Amino acid sequence: MSKLIVANLKMHFSPAEAQVYVEHLLADLSGVGGAEVVLCPPAIDLFPLAERLKDSPLKLGAQNVYCEDEGAFTGETAAAMLKGLADYVIVGHSERRQIFHEDDKLIAKKVAAVIRHDLVPILCVGENLLQREQGHSTRVVTGQLEANLAELTTTEAKKVVIAYEPIWAIGNDNFAKPDEVTPVVRAIQDTMRNLFDLEVSRLLYGGSVAADNAKAYLNLSGIDGLLVGHSSLNHAKFAMIVKAVS
Ligand code: PGA
Repeated sequence: MSKLIVANLKMHFSPAEAQVYVEHLLADLSGVGGAEVVLCPPAIDLFPLAERLKDSPLKLGAQNVYCEDEGAFTGETAAAMLKGLADYVIVGHSERRQIFHEDDKLIAKKVAAVIRHDLVPILCVGENLLQREQGHSTRVVTGQLEANLAELTTTEAKKVVIAYEPIWAIGNDNFAKPDEVTPVVRAIQDTMRNLFDLEVSRLLYGGSVAADNAKAYLNLSGIDGLLVGHSSLNHAKFAMIVKAVS
């Protein structure tokens, strides 16, 4: 299976800016194959980008979703509304957990909603610096998986993409070393076997991924792709990451 490279554009780019970005990226990646590339822009950009990208190899994902299908939930977007615009949905990003106080129960409901509407959840898990320093990384990530996948059957769990993003390595060029990543990757694989008796569909690494370290993370056993934040904001830098793995 080809590597999955996901750009988390976070709260950057208006619809007009996103369209300019995409034109540049399409040009940068013209003729480049070998990776599945997914852009996750702000929700407001999904509609114009879906129009533009419908005959292109680039796919779209949402950065968030609400767990209910419709109703009085001011400011939220339902999974059903993303259908036809996005293929993937990021769920449980550490910024959602920390800044917006999303708890494991809500995240479990969101994962289930995404699956119910036949989209692919990219479930983010990862420990903070204190948890890492106290030696609790694998325990934290295992607990997140147990709680966040609690509403799924085995068939549904098979569809979930898991992104391991150590919070201390996000957005700061504080790179995680391979020997810091590998034990957690193993714990994720073990947890999926214990919970569902299956292999992770795809396991991504995220946290200050850039063109010069992308390959090293992808070469780690068990890693099937990357979730890229700040290095995806510049189309040329993001294209270099895609090219590095293609
Ligand atoms: P970063 O972000 O690449 O800027 O560390 C990754 C993420 O938050 O998904």
